[in-house]
Amino acid sequence: MSTPIEQAADILSKAKSVVALTGAGISVESGIPPFRGKGGLWEKMDPMEVAHIDAFMENPKRVWDLLIKDMKTVLDKARPNAGHTGLVELEELGRMKTVITQNVDGLHQVAGSSDVIEFHGNFAWQRCLDCGQSMPTGQVDLAQSPPQCSCGGILRPDCIFFGEMIPTEALVRSQQVSADCDVMLVVGTSAMVQPSASMPFIAKDNGADVIEINPEPTPLTGRISNLHLMGRAAGLMPKLVAAVRQRLHPS
Ligand code: APR
Repeated sequence: MSTPIEQAADILSKAKSVVALTGAGISVESGIPPFRGKGGLWEKMDPMEVAHIDAFMENPKRVWDLLIKDMKTVLDKARPNAGHTGLVELEELGRMKTVITQNVDGLHQVAGSSDVIEFHGNFAWQRCLDCGQSMPTGQVDLAQSPPQCSCGGILRPDCIFFGEMIPTEALVRSQQVSADCDVMLVVGTSAMVQPSASMPFIAKDNGADVIEINPEPTPLTGRISNLHLMGRAAGLMPKLVAAVRQRLHPS
């Protein structure tokens, strides 16, 4: 009986178009905490009080002080791990086409993925609520709270808060590549937040194999995903890539 990694490698080595859907779990081994589950951010604070647009508009200073400043400290230190680089290697092997990520850390691009859909935006930029001007997060004066734009307007992260719509281009492209792929690799997401969690369903409905990499089962497990590699992304991805490479270029 072949192992789940061998079964996944069989499927990936025959695939023409692979799309990945990633979540906070793929960046855990880069030092970024997840949102849910053990050690999750939302265990320590209520997301509706610190990550909803109404909460931000009501009291931006509070959201900056409680959430955004710490996020900056953690994200500034974060570097891609073997989970991110594994997706790049699958791209170099001609398998991986597009990465749809819910993460705002930009680590897929730093790792070298060439086509990344940032479903929830990117924390590398801040935007002024008044004049709309964008500026790199690295240039924001954090001594001020909330930080302000040169026009005096309040700055907000260029990420999607709860209560906000997903940018149309990101949503439509994600639905398109999910419908067109023949394998979806779902890495490190609890698959609880819509509309990103609907992408594996779209892939499945269009005949794709869905493979999960996650130390925990999710609502997709055994229903939408036909394979679940139970474990951490940085641990499993190198083994999976090696098995795919062995099938494509037997040594
Ligand atoms: N490798 C792979 N998966 C992991 C790892 C790891 N090392 N560590 C944890 N996980 C899994 C957890 O078991 C969980 O299923 O990653 C998942 C993380 O789930 P969430 O914290 O809910 O993150 P995510 O699915 O990305 O959340 C979706 O919710 O809070 C909002 O906007 C935020 O983009 C986020 C969205």
